[in-house]
Amino acid sequence: MTDLRNKTIAEIVSDDISTASVFKKYQLDFCCGGGKTVENACEKANINVDDVVNDLLNNKSKNEAPNLNFKDWSAEFLADYIVYVHHTYVKQNLGVISEFAEKVANVHGQHEPKTVEISKLFSIISNELTAHMGREEFILFPAIKAKADNPHFEFDEKTLSLIEDEHEEVGTLIKKIQELSSNFTPPEWACNTFKALYFKLEEFTNDLYQHIHLENNILFPKVKKL
Ligand SMILES: [Fe+2]
Ligand SMILES: [Fe+2]
Repeated sequence: MTDLRNKTIAEIVSDDISTASVFKKYQLDFCCGGGKTVENACEKANINVDDVVNDLLNNKSKNEAPNLNFKDWSAEFLADYIVYVHHTYVKQNLGVISEFAEKVANVHGQHEPKTVEISKLFSIISNELTAHMGREEFILFPAIKAKADNPHFEFDEKTLSLIEDEHEEVGTLIKKIQELSSNFTPPEWACNTFKALYFKLEEFTNDLYQHIHLENNILFPKVKKL
């Protein structure tokens, strides 16, 4: 019990990715704010730490799928995995979600102004993420591979902190959408496009949290040790 309280959120999620769903339930950030201990994060968010620890101990999704041991992977392999799985997911879904968001904002914006705000926020996320992933794919990840191949390669650690700042920014934007959408809960009267939008936004958010977690908490610490 006491052990889990004093571990950082990033450590817990890195050991067992299925715990991410518990932190998401309490809206505790495990990708950018993952450096805090469970106790500190709960205190700050005014959440009962015992509830979180109990959920972590009874975490049911644990046995649903085998965990991938990201921590044991090489930096190069992890970078490729991130591009193939997460960057591909983002690229395939930005367009669809933007389209749903615009449609919902156009139809329901007058009596539900937050749909307009969500659409605007998602369009910022879309532009920022596209540029951000380009920087990773064409600058950062090739540099990581070069450093892994040749320890004498001059790796500019400033790039890492720049990329981490961008994660923080996009994380803040997605959290705003999570709040505005009452944690992706469509209103009773929602039409199918509205429901589809919230469903896709939740899926997108889960993927993004996992994506940023892999970069901030697993890949970058590996790179710093190369
Ligand atoms: Fe990425
Ligand atoms: Fe990233």
